[in-house]
Amino acid sequence: MADTVVGANPDPHASGSSLEGEDPNRRDFIHIAAGVAAVGLVGGLAWPFIDQMNPAGDTLALASIEFDLSKVVEGQQVVVKWRGKPLFVRFRTAKEIGAAIKDNHADLRDPATDESRHKPGKAQYLILVGTCTHLGCVPTFGGGDYGGWFCPCHGSVYDTSGRIRKGPAPKNLEVPDYAFLSDTKVKVG
Ligand code: FES
Repeated sequence: MADTVVGANPDPHASGSSLEGEDPNRRDFIHIAAGVAAVGLVGGLAWPFIDQMNPAGDTLALASIEFDLSKVVEGQQVVVKWRGKPLFVRFRTAKEIGAAIKDNHADLRDPATDESRHKPGKAQYLILVGTCTHLGCVPTFGGGDYGGWFCPCHGSVYDTSGRIRKGPAPKNLEVPDYAFLSDTKVKVG
């Protein structure tokens, strides 16, 4: 399995992050080590290579990736490229999970419980397609009034479950199809 990660975006408020103090504008692009591999039709090749090959749409649609969550620490977000889009892989803190559950029955534009947005028993891991459901910009973590993501393009605000709370975006950040292959190994797509 190749070691490839597009970027990481730690919670600036989480303790123990080795990336504390980084310029917030650069957090999405900090490279860290974690296991990521593209699988499927071109098993074992990391995504940058696939990207360069510019595969046909049907090939791209079949592409899956696997990664090892043990490399992601609490309060950290790793960003992986998947099917040409950023994928947010976030290890949530207890505070983030608590805030998400507390708002399960708030006045939500796109109602969903937090439990419906992660795998059973894996509340700490939130995996989301990292494109704003308004016009597709990439939201950043740690902005807005709900402790989750903020889209700088037109001000949409998502909570710690990735649910839309303010701004023009109509839907929650998408949860992709994924499955745990082991306690920490995940396959997306
Ligand atoms: S693209 Fe995110 S608010 Fe418009």
